[in-house]
Amino acid sequence: MSNIGSYEEKYKGFDWSFARKELGCKDSTPLNIGFYCSDRICQQGKGGKIAMIWEGYKGEVEKFTFDDLRIYSNNYAHLLKSFGIKERERVFIFMERVPDLYFSFLGILKMGGIVAPLFSAFGEESLLTRLEDGNASAIITIPKLIKKIRRIKDQLPQLKKIIIVTDDENFKSEEKETSFSAKKAKRVEKFDIFPGTFETPSVLHYTSGTTGKPKGALHVHSSIFAQYLTTKWCLDLKPDDIYWCTADPGWVTGTSYGIIGPWSLGITQVVLDSGFQVGKWYNLIQKHRITVWYSAPTAIRLLMKEGEEIVKKYDLSSLRHLCSVGEPLNAEAVTWSKKVYGLPFHDTYWQTETGAIVISNYPGMEVRPGSMGKPFPGIVATVLDSSYNPINKTGSAGLIALKPGWPSMFRNYWNNPATYDSKFKNGWYITGDRASIDKNGYFWFVGRDDDVINTAGHLVSPFEVESALLEHPAVAESAAIGKPDPINLEVVKVFVALKSGFEKSDDLELEIMNFIRKRLSPLAMPQEIEFVDSLPKTRSGKIMRRLLRAQERGEPIGDLSTLEND
Ligand code: PRX
Repeated sequence: MSNIGSYEEKYKGFDWSFARKELGCKDSTPLNIGFYCSDRICQQGKGGKIAMIWEGYKGEVEKFTFDDLRIYSNNYAHLLKSFGIKERERVFIFMERVPDLYFSFLGILKMGGIVAPLFSAFGEESLLTRLEDGNASAIITIPKLIKKIRRIKDQLPQLKKIIIVTDDENFKSEEKETSFSAKKAKRVEKFDIFPGTFETPSVLHYTSGTTGKPKGALHVHSSIFAQYLTTKWCLDLKPDDIYWCTADPGWVTGTSYGIIGPWSLGITQVVLDSGFQVGKWYNLIQKHRITVWYSAPTAIRLLMKEGEEIVKKYDLSSLRHLCSVGEPLNAEAVTWSKKVYGLPFHDTYWQTETGAIVISNYPGMEVRPGSMGKPFPGIVATVLDSSYNPINKTGSAGLIALKPGWPSMFRNYWNNPATYDSKFKNGWYITGDRASIDKNGYFWFVGRDDDVINTAGHLVSPFEVESALLEHPAVAESAAIGKPDPINLEVVKVFVALKSGFEKSDDLELEIMNFIRKRLSPLAMPQEIEFVDSLPKTRSGKIMRRLLRAQERGEPIGDLSTLEND
C-alpha cells in the first residue's frame, strides 16, 4: 500500500494543516527546517539511525547518523554566529557533494541565516553575479574551489568570512578565510536554534530567466510542509527505505528532495559525490540496496543508451519506486524502465519557484507514459489562454498556472520584486510552461513559453550566455538558443557575428566554447557555434531568437512583420 493511498480521496477536502500536524508543528511553534531535519528525528529516538550513506568518487564510504547531523550542523551554526553572522544574512555554499555541504546547509538554517547553494562547476562570472546580487556575508567552500573565490573576493566588499572545509592543519588561509572541519571541531551538543516563523526566509536558489541576471527565488521555513508531504506521497518514502536523489544541491531538487524532504521524514539517504557513470550508478544501487530512486530524463536516456545487457550484471532487486524530474519524461523512457527494471519512472513536475512537486504521477495511480500526472492535493492547477483565462477545453494547450498559496511557493525574487509581480496574472501564478489537460485530468507537457534553454534538466539563460560572449574580444553580437538533442533534451547553440579583423576558424570556435565554460559553467558552454555575418533583429533591435530556433528545428517561422533586415 502506498503512503498516499487513494489520490482522489486525498485531493478532496485537503488542507495543508495536515502536514503541519504530522510534523507536530503548532501555529505558535517556532519553525526551523534545521530542527525538523535533525533534532526532531533524534527526539523521536532515532538519533542512531543512519541519515546519510556518503560515497566519494573513489568509492570510499562514510556513514552519518541523525545525531551526527544534529551535532555537525550545530557546529556550523555556532561557527557562523561566532563570526558575527546574523539571522537573514546570506551564507552561500559552494562545494562538491561532500558531507559538510549537508551539515552546513542545516547549520545555516539553524542560526537563522538564509542558505544560498551554488553549483560547484560555476565559473567566476556565474559566481560573482549570484554572490553580488545576494550580498553574501559568508561563503562555505572546499580547497579545490577556493581559487575561484579568491579571484573575485575583492569585488565583494560585504563578504565577512570564507570558510574552507578541510582536515588539513597546514592549509594556508588568506585574508577573511578560516579553515574548518565539523568532524574535528569541538562538538556543540546544544545550540539555541533560531525560532523562525512560517514566513522566516530559509533558502535562496538562483534560477535563470530569458532576460536579465539570474533571479534568486526566496523560500521560507514553512516550505517544509510541502516538501515533507510531497516526499511522503509522491516519492512514497517509508521508514525502512534507502533513498537516492541523484541531483546536486546546487539545484532545487538537491535541496528540497536531497535534504529537506527525506530528512524531515527521518529517512536514510545515499549521496554520491560524482557524476553520471552507468556502472557506478548500478553498483551504487546494488551495494547500498537502494529502494527509492529520484532522477532525471537525461540520466534515464543515458541508461537506455547503455542498454539492457549491463542491467543484468547487477542485482537491482532492492528498487521499488522510481521518480523523475526536470524535463519532459518521454513515454519510451517509462515503457523502457518498466521492461528493464520492472518499474515505471513516475514523472514529477515542479520548478525552483514552486519549491516542491506540484504535478505528479502517484504510486498506486495509473501511470500514463508521457504525461506529468495530476496536481498534488492542495494544488489548484490549470492551463490559461493568452489573456490569462482558463481554457476549459480538454486537449488544448495553454500556460500552466497555479493558484497561489501553497506553503513552498517562493515569496519573492531577491532584489527583484517587479519580476516577481509579473509572474502573477488574474490571481494565478504563471509557470512559464505550456501543457494540455486530458479528459481525465492528466497534464501533458508541451514546452516552455520562453527562450530559456533546458539542458539535461538545468536551465540556462540565453541572456547570460550572450552577455558573457560579448566580453570575448572577437564577438560583435550573438544569439543563444536551445538546439534539440537526443540525450540532453537541448544543448546550447550560439550564432556569432565576429568583429571586423577576426576570421572564423576551428581554433576560434574552441576558444569561445572554453571561454564560456570557464566564465559560466560546463552546462552553459555552447556545443555548437555558427558564425554568421549578422543576426535577424526586430525593428526595435531585439535579436529574434524565435526565428533562429524555428530555423534550427525546421519549424514554421511564423510572423516576421517586425523583422528589420529581412
Ligand atoms: O520547464 C519546466 C522544466 O524545468 C523547469 C523548472 O526548472 P528548475 O526551476 O531548474 O527546477 C527543476 C527541478 C524542479 C520547468 O519550468 N521541468 C521540470 N519538471 C518537468 C519539466 N518539464 C517537463 N516535465 C517535467 N516533469
